[in-house]
Amino acid sequence: MKIAVIGTGYVGLVTAAGLAEFGHTVIGTDKDSEKIEQISRGTAPIYEPGLDELLKRNLAKGTLTFTADVDGAIRDAGVIFVCVGTPQDESGRADMSQVEGVSRTIAQNLNGYKVIVEKSTVPVKTSDWIKRIITLYRKGDTPFDVASNPEFLREGSAVSDFLEPDRIIVGVESDRARDILVRIYKKFGDRVVVTNIDTAELIKHASNSFLALKISYINMISDLCEKTAADVEQVAFGMGRDPRIGKEFLSAGLGYGGSCFPKDIKALTKIGEDMGVNMDLLKEADRVNHKRTAVFVDKVKRALWILKDKRIAVLGLAFKPETDDIREASSIKIIRELIKEGSVLRLYDPKAMDNMKEVFPGSPQVVYCEDPFQAALDANALLVITEWAEFRTLDLARIKDIMANPIIVDGRNMFEPGSVRKLGFEYYSVGRK
Ligand code: UGA
Repeated sequence: MKIAVIGTGYVGLVTAAGLAEFGHTVIGTDKDSEKIEQISRGTAPIYEPGLDELLKRNLAKGTLTFTADVDGAIRDAGVIFVCVGTPQDESGRADMSQVEGVSRTIAQNLNGYKVIVEKSTVPVKTSDWIKRIITLYRKGDTPFDVASNPEFLREGSAVSDFLEPDRIIVGVESDRARDILVRIYKKFGDRVVVTNIDTAELIKHASNSFLALKISYINMISDLCEKTAADVEQVAFGMGRDPRIGKEFLSAGLGYGGSCFPKDIKALTKIGEDMGVNMDLLKEADRVNHKRTAVFVDKVKRALWILKDKRIAVLGLAFKPETDDIREASSIKIIRELIKEGSVLRLYDPKAMDNMKEVFPGSPQVVYCEDPFQAALDANALLVITEWAEFRTLDLARIKDIMANPIIVDGRNMFEPGSVRKLGFEYYSVGRK
C-alpha cells in the first residue's frame, strides 16, 4: 500500500524518508514547489544530522518520491500521514487551519478507502473534526478511517529517534485501520502501543508537557541551590538515580525553547481550561520557564554592573545543539534584553547564524563572528547560551588571553567551575558555586 505524507517540515520530511527506509513506498507532498524541488535533489531545507543521507539513499532506491501535486499524491495513496504545522494562535491554542485545509483536500480526492493518520501534534478530539470535515466534503460515501500516530522525534536527533523509537503510539477506532498501521510498524513488534484515538492524541501533549514540567522543576531547584551550598548537577544526578524519576531532562539552565514545548504546554493548558479542568500546574511551569531569561540577564548584570557599551561575546544561538532552529530560543530574548541595555554583541553559532540574521540583521550593536575566538576578542564577558559540543573543548586559555575581562556567564553548565577558575576566569553558572 502506498503511503502519502503531507507536509515537508521537520516531522513530514523525517516521516517520509523514515517510512521509505522501513521498506514502504512513500510519496512526500507539499504545496511549496520550490521546497519539493530541493528535497527531490536530496537536500533538506533544514539542518538535521543524517537527514540528507537518508533522503538520498531512499530517493536513489526509487521508493521515495516527492511531488507538489498534493491532490495526485492523495489519490495515489491508501494511507495518508498528515504532517502539517499546528502553530500557536494568539490565544495560546493550536491553530488548526492547516489541518482543516488538508482534511478538505483529502475529502475532495477520496477515491477509495484510505486511512488518514494525524502525525502533527494536535489537541485531543481533533480526529472528530477531521472526520466531520471529510464526511462533509467527500463525494458520495467512500469509506475512510482516521487514526492518530503522534511523533516523538527530537530535533538534532530526529533521524535516529524515528528509526529507533522507544514506543510507537497508534490510536485507532477500527480493526482495519489498526491492522494497516500495525503492519506499517511491524518491525517494532511490541513497541507498538495501540489505544483509542483520544488517548493517542493526549499521550503526545501529556508527554511534552511532562518533560517541560521536569525542566522547570529542576530550574526552580537550581535557584534554590544558588542560595545554598547545594550543587544542582549533583542534586539532579542523585535524583536521577531513582528509576522512578530518571536522569533525563534534569539539566538546569536557560529553560526550554524550540517549536514544541513552549507551544504544547500552552495548548494543553487551553485544552484543559476549555473543558473546565484546572491546569494551573502547567501554567506555573511555563511561568518558571519564562523567568529564566531575566534570571540569566541579572547574572550578567551582577558580573558587569553596567551593560551599556560593554562588548559581550555570545556563544550559541540555536534553541539546542545540533540544529539551526532558533524558534523560541532563549538567545533571542537574551539578545533583545542586552540590545536594550546598550551592549555590543558578538555572536557565534556553528549552524544558526543565517536564521538569526533574519531576526537581528548585522549592525554596529550586533556583530556576527566566524568563530568563538573572533567573538571573544576584547570582550568584557562571554556568555554561553547553547551547549554545542565544540564549546566544551574550547581552548579557554586562549580565550582568556584575548578577552578584555576574563568573565564567563554560562547558561548551560558547560564547564567545570574549578578548572575554569584555575585558568583565571570569573565564572558564573546555573545552580552551582
Ligand atoms: C521535543 C520532545 O523532546 C520530542 O519528544 C517531541 O517529539 C518534540 O518536542 C515535538 O513535539 O516535536 P525538541 O523540541 O526537538 O523535542 O527538543 P528537546 O530535546 O526536547 O529540547 C527542548 C528544550 O528543552 C530545549 O530548549 C532544551 O535546551 C531544553 N532542555 C532539555 C533543558 O533545558 N533541559 C533539559 O534537561 C532538557
